[in-house]
Amino acid sequence: MKLWGGRYDVDVDELMERFNASLPFDYRLWEVDIEGSRAWAEGLHRAGLLTVEELEALLRGLDQVAEEWRTGRFEVQPSDEDIHTAVERRLHELVGDVAGKLHTGRSRNDQVVTDERLYLRESLDRLDGLLRALQEALVEQAERHLDLVMPGYTHLQQAQPIRYSHWVLSFFWMFQRDRERLADARRRINILPLGAGALAGHSLGVDRRFLATRLGFDGVSPNSLDAVGDRDVVLEVLAWAAIFGVHASRLAEDLILYASREFGFVRLDPRYTTGSSLMPQKANPDALELTRGKSGRLIGNLVTLLVVLKGVPSAYNKDLQEDKEPLFDTLDTLHMLVPVLTGVVRTLQPQPERMRTALDTATLATDLADYLVRRGMPFRQAHHVVGRAVAEAERRGLPLHQLPLDAFQAISPLFDADLYRVFDAERAVEARSSEGGTASAAVRAQIEAARHVLAEE
Ligand code: ARG
Repeated sequence: MKLWGGRYDVDVDELMERFNASLPFDYRLWEVDIEGSRAWAEGLHRAGLLTVEELEALLRGLDQVAEEWRTGRFEVQPSDEDIHTAVERRLHELVGDVAGKLHTGRSRNDQVVTDERLYLRESLDRLDGLLRALQEALVEQAERHLDLVMPGYTHLQQAQPIRYSHWVLSFFWMFQRDRERLADARRRINILPLGAGALAGHSLGVDRRFLATRLGFDGVSPNSLDAVGDRDVVLEVLAWAAIFGVHASRLAEDLILYASREFGFVRLDPRYTTGSSLMPQKANPDALELTRGKSGRLIGNLVTLLVVLKGVPSAYNKDLQEDKEPLFDTLDTLHMLVPVLTGVVRTLQPQPERMRTALDTATLATDLADYLVRRGMPFRQAHHVVGRAVAEAERRGLPLHQLPLDAFQAISPLFDADLYRVFDAERAVEARSSEGGTASAAVRAQIEAARHVLAEE
């Protein structure tokens, strides 16, 4: 018999029953569903709606249902529509008619969002730990290879030399913002919807403040209609994950390029590459390609829920059940993706020689312009003069640092023999000592700031 079967004298169409069911994916809420039910039962008892004996019977029964889920012995029935009805059905089998008192004043509408918030709270805490480990791997990588200088790119063209560590740390800060956003979302998640009833609140005197404290929430939702129809927390987590996915994808893309034969700046640990079934020489960066690819589904899951929500009328409508599969898919994806990416970073082997030889002295053209600036030339003019020197070197088929002094001086008399000292990437990097720059002191300060952020929590 359906829990809502009273008004029905026919069975629901069998295919419709399957279409309607969410148990195949919401079963994973069993633990938080039971946790919420325990609190609700206590609330009912405090409101004088359950005797001590009845409360104890319910709590014991709920424990037993939990035990069955935990040990994989819970037997799902075809009539179990979702996790809420499955738990209640089984509770009734175990403790008898008193089970029918548990749902007093409660609706699955406030129950399901309470479950989701409890579930998310825990998932996000775990995810935060995983992101933190990724950040730690980045800091360690940056610290270990502080000496390495490589070409920095804009438009994927060599731009200016930078420290490898500086590049590595750029991702630390992206993931730091992700973690800040996560903490911010968690604050809004930690508001209790239970007690909102179906849409209008409940009339039985269950103290919502008690429930909030009992379940570790920071407050109660201020409007019951909003509480049951609100999926912002799910949306925020999906949006958060999509942004993180984009960051992870960009790191993956850089590394795929840097690990290619053409760049050769890093080697990937064989634990994170795979071979080709046809070409014996291949070691493909699959871990990184999947990281890049999975950002697509993270974005897709966000878009799915946005589209589901946009036309839904106030309060609960069954459309809202469609929030779960994208959410669980995103969480599952991240719980694998982040540790794999962390492993890739932890085992990266940078190749100093390849970085050095790749570095074109033309990346020091800005430094040459700065040289002229220090000799009194306005920057715009210096930029133009150096541009002409670059063109002249190109015309002669020489790298910029081999253009003879007389050729430089033919372009500007401000050039002197000491100009060649500019062609030293290490020096150029060290000159960029502004806060947040790529000089070793600035990068060391970043590492310290990063360590500070990690230690603060
Ligand atoms: N399985 C439902 C969901 O996930 C639970 C809420 C059902 N509420 C209802 N009135 N049918 O959204």
